[in-house]
Formats: sequence, C-alpha cells, structure tokens
Amino acid sequence: MLLTRLSFSTLSILFALIFIGGYVSSSGVGLSCPEWPLCPAGLVPMREFIIEYFHRTVAATTGIMVFVTMFFTLRSQETKRSTKIASMIAAALVVGQITLGAFVIVEKLHAVLVTVHLGMGLILFLMILTVTLDVNQISKTRLQKPVQI
Ligand code: HEM
Repeated sequence: MLLTRLSFSTLSILFALIFIGGYVSSSGVGLSCPEWPLCPAGLVPMREFIIEYFHRTVAATTGIMVFVTMFFTLRSQETKRSTKIASMIAAALVVGQITLGAFVIVEKLHAVLVTVHLGMGLILFLMILTVTLDVNQISKTRLQKPVQI
C-alpha cells in the first residue's frame, strides 16, 4: 500500500529532523543563519552555517511530505476518521512549526520559543506516528483476509 510506505517515510524524515534540531541546539549554531527564510548565501549551502541550513532544508522537505501524507490519507476510503483528523492536525502543526522557526530566529533563540518548538515537534511526531500505525494496521488486516474462491 502506497500510504504505508509514504507515512513511514514521513515519520523517518521527521525523526531525522528532530535529531538534527537537537544537534543545532546543543552545538549552539542556532543563529548561524540569522535571516529567515533563507541563509545569508540564499540557497547556496556554506560551511559556516551548514547544520542550520540542513535543518531548514530537511524541514521544508518534511513539510511537503506531511502534506502529501495528509492528501493520500484523506483520499483513502479505508482510513478511519481519527486517522484523517491526525493527518490534518499534523499538516496544521507543520505549518505552525515552520512559522515558529522564523520567530525562534527573529527573537534570537528565546528560551520559551525554543521550548515550544521542541514540544510542537514532538506532538507532530505523535500525529504522524498515529497515521503510520493506523495505516499499517489496515495493510495487515488486508493481508489476513481469507481469499474468496
Ligand atoms: C517541521 C519543522 C521543524 C521541526 C520538527 C523542528 C524541530 C526542531 C527540534 C526538535 C529542535 C531542538 C530543540 C531543542 O533541543 O530544544 C529544533 C531546533 C531549532 N530549530 Fe527547528 N524544527 C523545524 C523547523 C524549523 C525551521 C523552519 C527553522 C528556522 C527557519 C527552525 C529553527 C530552529 C533553530 C534555530 C533551532 C535551534 C534552537 C537553539 O539553538 O536552541 N526549525 N528544531
């Protein structure tokens, strides 16, 4: 099932993004790109801000993947209402998270904003995990159905 692979890929890239975010924070390079949305050299990655550049690029990719996952979850006739709702919450959260990223930069890593950024990332992960598990359950049930002869 396409949605099984898609939701798992979205979950994996989101996990990687949270990991990279943690690294940005703990290595103190959060303001190496002091502008938003692009870094000082525009779309060109440079050694001085490569980690933060990577965080933003992966965030943009994750955003697209979360929306594609929502699209296919809503379109599927097999997914439950709660799964569809989780995918919509995830899409809203990813927009919120990227917007919040801008405030984190503008407000020069204000502690409250960074903490909310972490919390929102975790709720986003929970929503995509819910979608992934639900979709996986559907595929399993499909495989277990006896074949009618
Ligand atoms: C889906 C999108 C995103 C997710 C899931 C995400 C997740 C995270 C996580 C988990 C952290 C670590 C926080 C901590 O350890 O306290 C982090 C740090 C950070 N994020 Fe994001 N992020 C996203 C998008 C963005 C965007 C678009 C920007 C900026 C344009 C951004 C800027 C930052 C910065 C500057 C830090 C480091 C904060 C510090 O130095 O303490 N993030 N992110």
